Amino acid sequence: MTLFSRISGTGSYLPPRRVTNDDLARELAERGIETSDQWIVERTGIRARHFAEPDVTSSDLGLEASKRALEAAGRKAEDIDLIIVATSTPDMVFPSSAAILQRKLGIAGCPAFDIQAVCSGFVYALTVADAMIKTGSARCALVVGAEVFSRILDFSDRTTCVLFGDGAGAVVLEASETPGILASDLHADGKYVDILSVPGHVSGGKVLGTPLLHMDGQAVFKLAVRVLEDAARAALAKAGKTEADIDWLIPHQANLRIMEGTAKKLKLPLEKLVVTVHDHGNTSAASIPLALDDAVRSGKIKKGETVMLEGVGGGFTWGAVLLTL
Ligand code: UT7
Repeated sequence: MTLFSRISGTGSYLPPRRVTNDDLARELAERGIETSDQWIVERTGIRARHFAEPDVTSSDLGLEASKRALEAAGRKAEDIDLIIVATSTPDMVFPSSAAILQRKLGIAGCPAFDIQAVCSGFVYALTVADAMIKTGSARCALVVGAEVFSRILDFSDRTTCVLFGDGAGAVVLEASETPGILASDLHADGKYVDILSVPGHVSGGKVLGTPLLHMDGQAVFKLAVRVLEDAARAALAKAGKTEADIDWLIPHQANLRIMEGTAKKLKLPLEKLVVTVHDHGNTSAASIPLALDDAVRSGKIKKGETVMLEGVGGGFTWGAVLLTL
């Protein structure tokens, strides 16, 4: 009997403070920075994002998403035997946000660790959890993407601060006799470090360098369109499937133009594209599980359908996971 891993429940959480493009444009205008709802919508598809209050951490958002995923899976926190949190905005330098989340869930003993692959973090985390389940190291994993990107935004840089938001998504991934995760394909290329980074670090009790996000948007855009197609095709080939087998495409929610471009390259009608970027902005590692949960709860994605998840982000990192829900 082959052992597979399969998603048994999804959950997500957005902090209550919703900031529309007009709200943000007003706040930025007070600092002498000009932007508009029209520019943001035309270039990105983003209409609003959510920002967490200053005392709310990634693990707080991850906890709410996890509770909802556990409930959807019909599981209790005690059933979890592996926790992986994908985040680039962890609560602390260490311990991991996964260990902090474990404590907040009121459990102890199971392995818990963070994965740092920026906006590809969730597909990386899901791939690692799948491998650990297939090798028998875990049977019921909690895989979370959680971010408070508002903390690392430079609100004097209109080319980046209008793009990102905060939030969390989670799935319960369980050992299964029937296939769930069908294939995955992960990559990184460190020569692109400089096009998307937060170059600060902690040393001698001080933050050295700039602890704020820097991005060469056009360079990221070009690379993203290419690698998203490649990763999707590689995952399909590994699973012995074709584009026609994809019921739903959930790319990293950064820019509607990139997402629609990817769907077109894969010859998928835009009705198969799951879009939440208009309401969430780019929530980095949280964007894919947030979009997945949104589509599951709205009844769009149904059990048994085939879904392509695709991440791309700083590192440069990219990857895809093909799964049957
Ligand atoms: O999460 C990781 C993945 N990240 C991504 O996928 C992001 C990829 N990149 C992008 O989504 C796009 O490159 C951006 C949305 C970041 C930018 O869109 P663009 O079409 O590449 O715009 P641009 O950088 O070429 O800027 C066009 C113009 C510039 O003005 P000039 O030089 O033509 O006069 C910018 O200064 O738009 C200006 N601009 C703005 N105007 C109003 C840049 N940001 C803003 C703004 N409001 N917020």
